[in-house]
Amino acid sequence: MSIDKTHKKIAIHKLVNENGISIDFQNLGGIISSIKTPDRNGKLSDIILGFEAPNQYLEEHPYFGAIVGRFANRIAHGKFTLEGKEYSLAQNNGTNHLHGGLSGFDKVFWEVEPLENENGIQISYTSKDGEEGYPGNLSITVDYVLTDDNTLKVKYQAHTDKTTVINLTQHSYFNLSGDFSNQILDHELLLNADQYLPLDDTQIPLGNYQSVVGTPFDFSTPKTIGKDIGAKDRQLKIGNGYDHCWVINNPNNEIVKAAQVFHPDSGRTMDVYTDQPGMQLYTANFLDNTLPSKTGGTYGPRSGFCLETQHFPNAPNEPIFPTTILKPGDMFASETWFQFSVK
Ligand code: GLA
Repeated sequence: MSIDKTHKKIAIHKLVNENGISIDFQNLGGIISSIKTPDRNGKLSDIILGFEAPNQYLEEHPYFGAIVGRFANRIAHGKFTLEGKEYSLAQNNGTNHLHGGLSGFDKVFWEVEPLENENGIQISYTSKDGEEGYPGNLSITVDYVLTDDNTLKVKYQAHTDKTTVINLTQHSYFNLSGDFSNQILDHELLLNADQYLPLDDTQIPLGNYQSVVGTPFDFSTPKTIGKDIGAKDRQLKIGNGYDHCWVINNPNNEIVKAAQVFHPDSGRTMDVYTDQPGMQLYTANFLDNTLPSKTGGTYGPRSGFCLETQHFPNAPNEPIFPTTILKPGDMFASETWFQFSVK
């Protein structure tokens, strides 16, 4: 963990829409530190795990709310080869590379500008050639837009001056109950995916696509996150719960509805749309009650869930996975939308 705390101060930017939904963003890591949405009785609550005190984000934490890159999730042994040259990255997760390394995009300060024609901000960052071991000066912008139909749109763009790899995600932890002492096991989840990526013991995809049919990984019709999470299953054991990438049904690479989450008690619903091929569902398996919660107490296992839209983990080493290579002259462009409603 290394944040250069000397140069910049955390600044917070707020977006509000006509229905009273509000979202707080930080220049550090592009972190979303709060999303307040109404329940079915109109009561607003914060549905994002994180900290009350902004300075706490300068300390160790599990990517709460952050933009993750240059390569989200794992690269086996922190090594990949591009145009005949082998690159070595930090092994910061056992022997693997995780979430961009020791000082990934979650730990850097981004420039922030308001967007002119939309209710939004644009954050930007240039990752230098060689930063965290990756080739090429990579310039990234992320637009965060809050619409009046209660949708947070996250729009990524990037370009490079040398061939590189890129995989960006938004690592917010949601708990639609608004009370982080409640586990998220009662949330009903639908994933628009017939297959997922099984993992080896170090959480690297084995390289095959596995049908979800007849497994605890079948969310193709809604079921609670808790229904099968305790099942005797080798893959669940490896992840200590769900910590896997689903293959979104999206043959034409369009923006499709990839996930829907419904919390019966509050009525809160969240739909996730994306043009990315993968969706990592992570059920906060490694939260261990050491970090203070915004609603009192500490964050424990299953106190939130992440739906991380992304390319497939370890794609630089798996020729059958959709490519994550970005070349000079090409533009990386991708969108993910989180739409909030009540039922
Ligand atoms: C992702 C990974 C998990 C874990 C979290 C952050 O979801 O797949 O294994 O690293 O991020 O703690």
